[in-house]
Amino acid sequence: MEINDIQYVGVLGAGLMGHGIAQVFASAGYRVNLYDANPAVLKTAKDRIAANFKVFIELHLATSEDIDRCLDHITLCSSIETSCKGPHYIIEAILENLEAKRTLYAELERFASPETLFSSNTSAISITEISEVLKHKGRFLGSHFWNPPHVLPCVEVIKGAHTDDAAFETVYGLMEKVGKIPVRVLKDVPGFLGNRLQHAMWREAISLCHNNIASAEDIDKIVKYGFGLRMAFIGPLETADLAGLDLTSDIQKYLFPYLESSSEPSPLIADLTANGACGVKSGRGFYLWTPERVRKVIEQRDAVLLRILHEIVPPQSSDGGEQDR
Ligand SMILES: NC(=O)c1ccc[n+]([C@@H]2O[C@H](COP(=O)([O-])OP(=O)(O)OC[C@H]3O[C@@H](n4cnc5c(N)ncnc54)[C@H](O)[C@@H]3O)[C@@H](O)[C@H]2O)c1
Repeated sequence: MEINDIQYVGVLGAGLMGHGIAQVFASAGYRVNLYDANPAVLKTAKDRIAANFKVFIELHLATSEDIDRCLDHITLCSSIETSCKGPHYIIEAILENLEAKRTLYAELERFASPETLFSSNTSAISITEISEVLKHKGRFLGSHFWNPPHVLPCVEVIKGAHTDDAAFETVYGLMEKVGKIPVRVLKDVPGFLGNRLQHAMWREAISLCHNNIASAEDIDKIVKYGFGLRMAFIGPLETADLAGLDLTSDIQKYLFPYLESSSEPSPLIADLTANGACGVKSGRGFYLWTPERVRKVIEQRDAVLLRILHEIVPPQSSDGGEQDR
């Protein structure tokens, strides 16, 4: 399957990620079949997509015609069988559970054409392990979007042990074609690139909080208004080069023994969750969350991200340095 052979896309799972992924492809002019096992989720999917456009409209990045065009390209499907009729490429975004994903793929292979490419939006589960249930394993790979998928451009395209090179390059190219910034993950390691980096930092942040080194608010501030602010423009390895690798090495020799290295989630998380503090879904976690605060933070987050992407940093503007490895 070549990039231009793909005109029609399927998205399985219409939750937080799936409805936004459907929006990405439909906005780029692809016909999209969207399926969810929960009819209530499916029923609200188009309203959620229309609501996602609010911030784009406010920033003059979309018009009301764009909403209509996007929604017109999406067909809601009430079974896997119907969702597989037509698509040349199917992305799965159901719950993060190996057995549930394997069951779905086994069923998918019964209904989809043998040429159809499949990818999973799994955050961390091994692509190779998911693919073991498939007869045609070469057509399967990972495509990890970031939340919110209709805003954040990066998609990790992950090669499993059985993924064909051609399928891998086709999906990589397709992501570029729909306006995303894909990266190639050449080996199927747990957590891929982004979640390994992200959770390495969260482990340290939660440990600092647990040991009362600073408040949750101040730990978040050092990222938001310190080194995190420049991360929209410059990555950690570019920053290490700018700082000097000799200095980086000296700092790491001294610092590494003091960093959190537990292979278990923090006891602080265990205490909070045991007491019903699971984050926004329960109204409290590290912070107290009212529905109004959640709505405001998400709206402001998306507006700031879009302004950074479209007004301040043209996509890939930090490109230009020669790579030395
Ligand atoms: N939430 C995030 O920030 C995020 C980011 C990147 C990747 N992911 C990954 O994306 C996937 C989906 O996550 P989410 O946050 O959208 O979850 P979600 O719970 O919001 O949505 C999952 C949807 O899948 C549906 N579903 C469950 N089993 C199904 C089945 N067998 N067939 C069809 N639909 C089924 C559920 O009804 C639900 O609507 C997971 O693998 C997750 O790890 C999540």
